[in-house]
Formats: sequence, C-alpha cells, structure tokens
Amino acid sequence: MITKPKGTIDIIGTDAKIWKYIEEVIDSVMDKYNYSYIRTPIFEATELFHRGIGDTTDIVTKETYDFVDRGKRNMTLRPEGTAGVVRSYIENKLYGSANLPVKVYYQGTMYRYERPQSGRNRELTQYGVEVLGSDDPYLDAEVISLALNINKMLGLKGNVVHINTLGDKTSREQYRQALTTYLKPHIHELCDDCQQRFDKNPLRILDCKEDADNPILKEAPSMLDYLTEESKKRFDTVCEYLDLLQVDYVIDPKIVRGLDYYNHTVFEVHADIPGFGNANVLGGGGRYDGLVEQLGGPATSCVGFAAGIDRLVMALKATNEKLPIDTGIDAFILYVNEDEKKYAAFLSQELRMAGFKIDTDYCHRSLKAQFKQADRLESRYLILLNSDDLQEGLVTIKNNQTKVEDKIMFEYVIYYLEEHLSVEDTPFDETDDYCCHHEETEGE
Ligand code: HAM
Repeated sequence: MITKPKGTIDIIGTDAKIWKYIEEVIDSVMDKYNYSYIRTPIFEATELFHRGIGDTTDIVTKETYDFVDRGKRNMTLRPEGTAGVVRSYIENKLYGSANLPVKVYYQGTMYRYERPQSGRNRELTQYGVEVLGSDDPYLDAEVISLALNINKMLGLKGNVVHINTLGDKTSREQYRQALTTYLKPHIHELCDDCQQRFDKNPLRILDCKEDADNPILKEAPSMLDYLTEESKKRFDTVCEYLDLLQVDYVIDPKIVRGLDYYNHTVFEVHADIPGFGNANVLGGGGRYDGLVEQLGGPATSCVGFAAGIDRLVMALKATNEKLPIDTGIDAFILYVNEDEKKYAAFLSQELRMAGFKIDTDYCHRSLKAQFKQADRLESRYLILLNSDDLQEGLVTIKNNQTKVEDKIMFEYVIYYLEEHLSVEDTPFDETDDYCCHHEETEGE
C-alpha cells in the first residue's frame, strides 16, 4: 500500500467539515474587516525565502523543501505566506495604488521539513493577513484583535495574546549588545543551536524550546529596558488600543519569533489546552517594516499574522463544544423500480437547483436499506416515490423525526420543503390546496 508522506494528513469525515467551517468563518470575518483575498504560488524562487525570512532562521536553514526544476531554477515550496505576498505586492506595483494600506488575507498550504508531532506537520495549512502601507500602531492592535476575534467567532474562548516589542533598529542594537554581554560567560551552558545563534542571531536564543526552563535565559535582560523613547511610546500606544479593543493580552519579553523580518510589535495567540504543548500556539505575527524594501520595493510599513488551521481544528475538537456544522441533508429520495428511479433523478436535480441538500440511492439498496441510509445521512425528510402514486402525479413526503407524512402533488414538493424546513418541522396544514393526504405513521 502506498501511504501518505510523513508529516502530512488526510482531511476527511468530521475533520473535513470542521475545516470547511473554519475556512467559511475566516472568509466571513475577513469580509467584515474589508480584507481582500489573495492567492500566491505554492512554490517561489528559493532566493525569496533566503532574503525574506532570513539565512539564519531554522525555517530557512533546516526546514525548506527545495528543488531544482527542469529549467534548472532553484525553487522552494513556501514555508509561510508573508514573503510571497510581499513579492506579489512589489511585482504588481500595488504600492502605486491610492488605496493604501493594502489589506489582504490568504488561506493555503505551507511546507516545513520539521519533526512531525501533534500539531506540527510538514504540510501545514495557514490562514493569514498582511497589511502593507501603514505604520499606524492602531493597526497592530486591530490585527491582533482580529486574530483573537476569529477564534472567538469559531467558538474558541480563553485565548490569550502574548505580546512583545523588538523596537526600532537602535533599540535592537542596544539590546543585542546587552544580551550578548550577559550571555557570553554562560554560552557553553546552552544547547548547540543556541551556541550557533549567539553570533548570528542572539535574540533567537530567548525562545529556544530546549533551554526554555534554563535559569540563564529566565534571568536574561529584557528587551523592554532597552527601547528608545520613540519605540517605547509606540508600544504603549499599541497596548492602549489593545485595552480599548478589550483584547486579553500579557506582555511577554521572551517572544522574539522565528523569522528575521520583524521589528516593533511581535505577538502570539496562546490557547491553554492540557496536553497540547507547543501546539497551544495557535498563531503569531507582528510588524515587518523593512521587508518590502529588502526585497526590492519602496520603504513600506507592514503588519500581519498567520495561524495554523491544523491547530485550530485540534483546539476546536478539544473544546467539545457543539459546532454549527450542518451534518444532515434536507431530503432523501427513496424508490424501488427503474421508472421511479427516473423520477428520483429528475426530482433530485429540481430540488438541488432550488437550493435543497438532497441525496438518493446509487447502490441498488432494498427499500428497507434505503430508510437506514437516510437515517445514516441524518435526512430531515424522506421523499417516497411509488409508481401508482406517480401516475396520479403524487409523492409522499415524510418528516423523518416526527414521522408525520403527507401525500402531495409532485410539482409542489419544492414549496412543501421550503415551508417545512424554514418553520422547523411545523406539521403541514391540511387545508393547503396542494395537500392531498396527511397522516402520522409509526417509524420504519
Ligand atoms: P509562524 O509563527 O511561523 O509565522 O506560523 C504561524 C502559525 O502557523 C503558528 O503559530 C502555528 O499555529 C502554525 N504553524 C507553524 N508551523 C507549523 C507546523 N509545522 N505545523 C502546524 N502548524 C504550524 C508565520 O508563518 C508568519 N508568516 C506570520 C506572519 C504573517 N507574520 C507577519 N505576517
């Protein structure tokens, strides 16, 4: 048997429904915030990620899926969405638009060659937003509250945002100096990765998973003490807006993020689900004011975030809350012989085109087995076709819960279902002129 590649998942059954539900909620909330949908390629020139995400990040040094295409070009499956959006912004000259800021959102698969574990896949799905062309601190707060509000709309309560600032260039240089001076005498007590990061990217040592509980890191100087006056003021303004938008947040100076493009605000959305470990980080993002310029575009202030849909599905399943997922169908059409089957085919099409969710039998099931199949599909109504009745232009419709049934004229099926499905199973009014016969029967 050929099996799926390591670190990938098949999204099937209830999970697929939860997945779709999440995607639909995201689409609808993005519409309210007036974000436009963007789709960029799943593979891009390798150089984009080296220049964009950073040559010293784990994502670029250890985790990309790289390949040389048949034209001998170096390509990479995108490990995240921001670099591609920025490339598209520059290439399509969106910065020339009078509609700044450009507000876009995406949903799609990303690829990271990581050690697969619960909530950590090699093919992962993210949704994300990017806002290009504004340095307003209010926007940082709005993007953070959007991340949290989507989770609330999905039914995920109690998430907390961990926020920090990396300040401007001067703040980071001051802090880098203080941090390396502090860490230098202790560097050999830290893991191999941290020792390598010391020269290239010492701030990343702060969010090392292996040394997370090491007292050396716990007592390290805090970025917040090395901010320039301006950076501090900016961060305070972001926090004021977060208060105004009633965002649940904590200031966490250990948040530095795993990609190189950030400055000023950085944040992560944390759930608190027992046993979830790192998968409790549902999303993250921040400001990246230098990236557009670094990739060849004009100086442009940007902010954004992305969240893992794989993790949102896990979190929603862990809450055990009933999700508004429509599992049933409106009606199942039952028939026995070939003539009835032709009516079933015709009626199925009519009802589906009228907007109903309809199914019928395709497996030569007995009538009894068709009733069972209708139950399995959680059909709200049964439409029973019978040759004798059909000759008189009649069909029987039965409420599959109350077992109340009516015999009505074929051409009135649409009106009948419209009326009954909209008023939640109200018994059919016998005085209606299209009702020929109304009775209650025992269950099949
Ligand atoms: P990131 O923190 O690398 O940020 O990823 C965002 C989210 O994607 C994570 O918080 C997590 O939920 C999910 N995720 C990451 N890796 C995996 C994985 N291997 N398996 C499952 N889920 C995963 C970014 O990607 C930035 N582009 C976010 C951003 C947008 N910053 C500014 N704009």
